[in-house]
Amino acid sequence: MGPGHDGNVIAELTKDHREVDALFTRIEAQPVGDKRRRELADELTVELVRHSVAEEQYLYPAVREHVADADSLADKEIEDHSQVERLLKDLEGREADDARFDALVAEVKAAVTAHVRDEEDRLFPLLAASCSPQTLEDLGEQVRKAKKTAPTRPHPSAPDTPPANKILAPGAGLVDRLRDHLTGRAAH
Ligand SMILES: [Fe+2]
Repeated sequence: MGPGHDGNVIAELTKDHREVDALFTRIEAQPVGDKRRRELADELTVELVRHSVAEEQYLYPAVREHVADADSLADKEIEDHSQVERLLKDLEGREADDARFDALVAEVKAAVTAHVRDEEDRLFPLLAASCSPQTLEDLGEQVRKAKKTAPTRPHPSAPDTPPANKILAPGAGLVDRLRDHLTGRAAH
């Protein structure tokens, strides 16, 4: 799985949503306080930031262009992303046995679940009704390309692989480093 799927932009992003759902389930399946929760939270962060940046670069501009009166909807989705990122930044420095760790994961899950439902129930149908099939295919290809510039997430079957927060140069937190990397912003 990972960054590459196929199909149009809606199929592509919907598959990302299901992968994120599965990561929440895997986190919850680990014993409370287990370091695997921390490692899976890093994977979740990589997936969510990669997905959010791809949506911000291609999906929301397309919504503004093709869907009538959709600016406020696009603005709301971007604000949802900001809220999730603030939670992920709070989460990134905490170990699995931190008193706030599980509560923050639950807050991220609630915010992401509401955002996903909103996109799948409202935004995607509006986009599908407003764009040609070819436009949706082209957007799917752009989103796939955008996600491929992200660092590979740690592989669950390779326990020696460093967690995602070791993949990129140290400095700012994982969320900021990922976002800088994905948007091509220079690191300071
Ligand atoms: Fe999404």
